[in-house]
Amino acid sequence: MSEMKMPLIGDKFPDLEVNTTHGKIKLPDEYLGKWFILFSHPADFTPVCTTEFVAFQRRYDEFRKLNTDLIGLSIDQIYSHLKWEEWIEENIGDKIEFPIIADGTGDVGKRLGLIHSASSSSTVRAVFIVDPNSVIRAILYYPAELGRNMDEILRMMKGFQKSEEENVAIPANWPNNEIMEDHVILPPASTGEQIAKRKEQESKGEIECYDWWLCHRK
Ligand code: BEZ
Repeated sequence: MSEMKMPLIGDKFPDLEVNTTHGKIKLPDEYLGKWFILFSHPADFTPVCTTEFVAFQRRYDEFRKLNTDLIGLSIDQIYSHLKWEEWIEENIGDKIEFPIIADGTGDVGKRLGLIHSASSSSTVRAVFIVDPNSVIRAILYYPAELGRNMDEILRMMKGFQKSEEENVAIPANWPNNEIMEDHVILPPASTGEQIAKRKEQESKGEIECYDWWLCHRK
């Protein structure tokens, strides 16, 4: 039997029917027309994962404003997810509103490459960012001892959308970049005509350039 290849950036998210705390969901069809972030965690009732769930929940409205939904995943059973959600609400005060996949068999984790060690059955901390056409746009992996930075994941969502809407690239640490602050980067000129155009735009003050291949604007 041939091994199924792990999905990579640029691949269509695989068709999967998953059991969640909100019932059965067909991925990626459930989220067609919107972005979704699938994030896996090693186990329910663990300290770092608990802080991550609260952090995602507290930004859920901000994600939704960006036409982005969230879905969690671990190999725990539904009853464990529900009990953990109850514990979080009673003890921390946050009601988890997004669905969590119960991947009891580990089949979803294996299909998505979320179980890294042959000796382990628990899912690693991973994040898949999937666009409205079901294409995987980013995959992030984290170790067990390090919680994710949800503000960075929100920044990525804002960056993806800005990049698509304006056909620009997003600099490091945007919108607080060291050399161009909140500006965005124009695609590098690739013809003589484009080089001349960049120089003209710069002379008119429409854009700023370090050189014709490194131009930026508000
Ligand atoms: C945690 O979430 O605290 C955790 C999960 C798995 C291994 C170590 C820590």
